[in-house]
Amino acid sequence: MSHSQSDLNHTEPYAEGRRGFITHVLAAAIGGFVGLVPFASGLCFFLDPLIRKRKGGSGDGFVKLQITVEALELNGDPQLVKIIMDKVDAWNTYRNQPVGAVFVRRVAADKVVVFNQRCPHLGCAVDYKEKKYSCPCHTSEFDLAGARQNKIPPRGLDELEVSIRNNTEVWVKFQHFRATTPEKIPVG
Ligand code: FES
Repeated sequence: MSHSQSDLNHTEPYAEGRRGFITHVLAAAIGGFVGLVPFASGLCFFLDPLIRKRKGGSGDGFVKLQITVEALELNGDPQLVKIIMDKVDAWNTYRNQPVGAVFVRRVAADKVVVFNQRCPHLGCAVDYKEKKYSCPCHTSEFDLAGARQNKIPPRGLDELEVSIRNNTEVWVKFQHFRATTPEKIPVG
């Protein structure tokens, strides 16, 4: 069946309307995509510190100490070792910063005990001398096993989780704990 010229003229507005609709949809889609790119970039920038915080540290929370098992005398005096880690604040990463210190002592061929140097009383740095730990701030004292020797500190020294890796590396889960409480409550 053939269409007359008047039939064709009659369908033109419909075809034009459809082309216009498709053009609008395409324009909206392209515009949306183009607008999405800076939005996604902005979102990544905004979330970046949060993402980095999650990636920060050593992944599993352990940090490798700058001392090996062999370097520690069996049942000898504890060694004071600085903890060096990357510090991350809201927008910046500061590489290799000292964030604290620990006392490390080898108590068996393959066992190492680690205490956070921070005093559980009010957070001063404890010293080690003549088989005991003592705090210069308010005279807290602890024995070699970290148990408190007077009533000034609320608990013993804070022992940290240790992992011996590759037979000789000493890795520690470095944490601070709330001062003044009898319980060991992690902070930060
Ligand atoms: S902070 Fe150590 S005794 Fe007070």
